[in-house]
Amino acid sequence: MVEQRVPFIAGNWKMQQDHLQAIALVQKLAWTLKDADHDFEAVEVSVFPPFTDLRSVQTIVDADKYSIRYGSQDISEHDAGAFTGEISGAFLAKLGASYAIVGHSERREHHGETDATIGRKAAAAVRHGVVPVICVGETAEDLEQHGASAVPVQQLRDILAEVPAGDFVVAYEPVWAIGSGKAATPEQAQQVAEALRKTIAEVRDDEAAESTRILYGGSVKSANIAGFMREPDIDGALVGGASLDANEFAGIVRYRSHVGV
Ligand code: PGA
Repeated sequence: MVEQRVPFIAGNWKMQQDHLQAIALVQKLAWTLKDADHDFEAVEVSVFPPFTDLRSVQTIVDADKYSIRYGSQDISEHDAGAFTGEISGAFLAKLGASYAIVGHSERREHHGETDATIGRKAAAAVRHGVVPVICVGETAEDLEQHGASAVPVQQLRDILAEVPAGDFVVAYEPVWAIGSGKAATPEQAQQVAEALRKTIAEVRDDEAAESTRILYGGSVKSANIAGFMREPDIDGALVGGASLDANEFAGIVRYRSHVGV
């Protein structure tokens, strides 16, 4: 099969780094990757800072012509209006955000987000030309009761029902693997990624299934990334904790040097 999906390494900073720290971290990451001669067309890199950092990140990326992309950790389902505290996709597009994470398990857990809400958020992103990174994943309890794929597959189905045609990225993040230091095995992640790709083919079409990137997330680090990237249906990673250390994150981005290709 022809490799048409560009591998994608995404760093979710969560509620960490103020805007000054964000500038320093993006600079350090850019310099580290430049020193290593990183080819951004071969492996795409994006960071996901807090909303308050995005303008600063845009400024440094534009001024220094970095090839690092950036996105938001959330997006409003609405475009404008009386929605105190919400951030419109129109504002994100103006800031040059390429992506918006939707449905991270922390938002599901702490903000009561449902698949329907997440679907509407993904639709809002698509409306503004921002590519949604749709997160799905099972809890430890789901895993025990239904196996690994059933819950993420159903979540993706319900979310995509709300989203008009357009590009999106899927991040498979088992909830029990996030921040736990206990990543899924590459075999399990592959099994779920394959089931998710089949779901995209059913809900959309074969072309969408072939071209959509599916990431694995949950305790990814430079020491375990290569195993995931060897799997045929895993096209990258959504990285939390390890994305806050420029050297470690650059090590993940440069997984090809571990795989030896
Ligand atoms: P982690 O987080 O890499 O710290 O496990 C992943 C995520 O929440 O996206």
